[in-house]
Amino acid sequence: MEVSETSRRILASLLEAKTGQQLAMNRRWRIETALATIMRERGYDSVDQLVSRLVARADAGLQDAVIEALLNNETYFFRDKLPFDLLMAGPVKRLEKARAAHKKLSIWCAGCSSGQEAYSLAMSFADEKLRWSGWQIEIVGTDLSKAAIERARSGTYSQFEVQRGLPVMQMIRHFDELGGGDWRISEALRRQVRFEARNITDKPPAPGRFDVILCRNLLLYFAPEMRRLAFNRMAEAIAPDGALMLGAGETVLGQTDRFVSDADCRGLYVPVPAAQGQAKVA
Ligand SMILES: C[S@@+](CC[C@H](N)C(=O)[O-])C[C@H]1O[C@@H](n2cnc3c(N)ncnc32)[C@H](O)[C@@H]1O
Repeated sequence: MEVSETSRRILASLLEAKTGQQLAMNRRWRIETALATIMRERGYDSVDQLVSRLVARADAGLQDAVIEALLNNETYFFRDKLPFDLLMAGPVKRLEKARAAHKKLSIWCAGCSSGQEAYSLAMSFADEKLRWSGWQIEIVGTDLSKAAIERARSGTYSQFEVQRGLPVMQMIRHFDELGGGDWRISEALRRQVRFEARNITDKPPAPGRFDVILCRNLLLYFAPEMRRLAFNRMAEAIAPDGALMLGAGETVLGQTDRFVSDADCRGLYVPVPAAQGQAKVA
């Protein structure tokens, strides 16, 4: 059934107000597919009927369910691969020297979806056991989606998900087969990575100071003002010699004065000293 323009607009405004995400035109036309499960489970015949109940606040939990369904949680292990190699060879190597006295690195994956990005990093460190022996590598993954965070915590993935991007050797080394086609990441890696449901525009997670921040494929559909706020949050939380990694189609250029391109490493960004950037957080 055709979705009215009014319903599309109401859903797009709700998503933007609650998450900062603007519903791209191409995704507006897929609203019905995204909401199909909710409609089936809650007995709605059309998106317009669902929206009218949403507006009337007549169905408890409907708003949260709709927001979850409209978020784009696309992710996979070692997504785009090259950024992980660049990160390990560039900033991580540099920080390994800078933190040699305390042997501690803190990494924040903001918008981690169901955890593949955070676990990819954990595997990268675990695969160099000798090099990182005696180090504390703390990885925190956050996402607005409670469902995604629950999945991340469980560390359980389907055969399709583990095959997507994950080299077979790493799958064998770090996953246990559960049967029924599911695989679970090792307990050691699950213990190493902490996951929290959190909006990127809220206060950063503990410990509040990170050597590396990944924020990939989250800010693409943010309105400019929200994007600026998210960059401010990350600038608050990054170590002065830390590094920020964005997604392939994202940049800080023209978006914030709190980060600049890392002259030594393509696709990475470094914080601008507070006195030079806008010190105040909106
Ligand atoms: C496309 S996924 C990217 C996942 C992963 N970073 C990657 O690149 O593979 C974007 C994630 O950002 C999350 N997200 C959207 N808006 C958010 C917000 N305001 N705060 C925190 N997470 C958000 C979504 O729930 C989704 O899981």
